[in-house]
Amino acid sequence: MKRISLTQHLIEQQRQHNSIPAELRLLIETVGRACKTISHAVSKGALGEVLGSAGSENVQGEVQKKLDILSNEILLEANEWGGHLAAMASEEMESIHPIPNRYPQGEYLLLFDPLDGSSNIDINVSIGTIFSVLKAPDGMTTPTEKDFMQPGRKQVAAGYAIYGPQSMLILTTGNGVHAFTLDRETGSWVLTQSNMQIPVETQEYAINASNARHWYPPVTRYINEMQAGATGPLKKNYNMRWIAAMVADVHRILTRGGIFMYPADSRDTSVPGKLRLMYEANPMALLVEQAGGLATDGKQAILDIQPTKLHQRVPVFLGSKVEVERITAYNQE
Ligand code: F6P
Ligand code: MN
Repeated sequence: MKRISLTQHLIEQQRQHNSIPAELRLLIETVGRACKTISHAVSKGALGEVLGSAGSENVQGEVQKKLDILSNEILLEANEWGGHLAAMASEEMESIHPIPNRYPQGEYLLLFDPLDGSSNIDINVSIGTIFSVLKAPDGMTTPTEKDFMQPGRKQVAAGYAIYGPQSMLILTTGNGVHAFTLDRETGSWVLTQSNMQIPVETQEYAINASNARHWYPPVTRYINEMQAGATGPLKKNYNMRWIAAMVADVHRILTRGGIFMYPADSRDTSVPGKLRLMYEANPMALLVEQAGGLATDGKQAILDIQPTKLHQRVPVFLGSKVEVERITAYNQE
């Protein structure tokens, strides 16, 4: 097999599509390098003393794990000095992190969920890092939160690293979705799949069914219809999977199809769902659309939502086109 490294892939993409200027390449390579460091820490587990809670809470009131904080620091440190960024934002930080004055300021904005699926850390199940890249608005001098408030369609790159049986980096810069596997011996990300495509139809769904009593009627109807199987209105049997790390559930869907749902429900009407728009839903939505799937908030494409807050939450329905269209239609009825 001819081995194509992440760097070579990015340079070839630039030659073919003119879509990856040198600064953006540096940014993606830097994120890729940080993800290797996180992958290394994750794989040490108890031997690296990285498991367990850090005894603090993030801005969303979630208990922070040691690895949440460590991964956040790794990403901040790796990306601060290269001159490619103007500011960063993270699930683990209440406000944005402008690049310190001692470093040159670049033209990109980076958002991340440093360690997605934290509840899986201590049980040795897949977790990941999600990232989204925006261009700073023209004329911006001192970055503010407002500069990040761009719809997901404006992302110039998005992706995730998954730390599972293998560590993989899944990336889009707007020309398809490409997968790299970490070669632990040489320490490089090697292209292992180009142009991932989500099958249009599926018989697999992912939802946290323990929330069923709080669901709104369109979600209840849809899940009931899937559970009715071959003799029900959808005329086929469905299987269910829930890994409880968005990265891992989305990775399964990119690989073999399926639909992933984290709907809004009636528990607290001021909180529309659980997942965060800017650094969870948007990057995943871009990957899913680039792989031929769909991602909506139940009504409109996630990528068309105009954000108003850095940590805003959004309902998420993403994956195989036919199924996302179905639940989106039910929501609109
Ligand atoms: O980041 C939030 C998250 O951990 C996702 O990765 C995952 O899909 C979801 O929450 C799991 O939610 P629950 O705890 O309801 O299963
Ligand atoms: Mn997350």
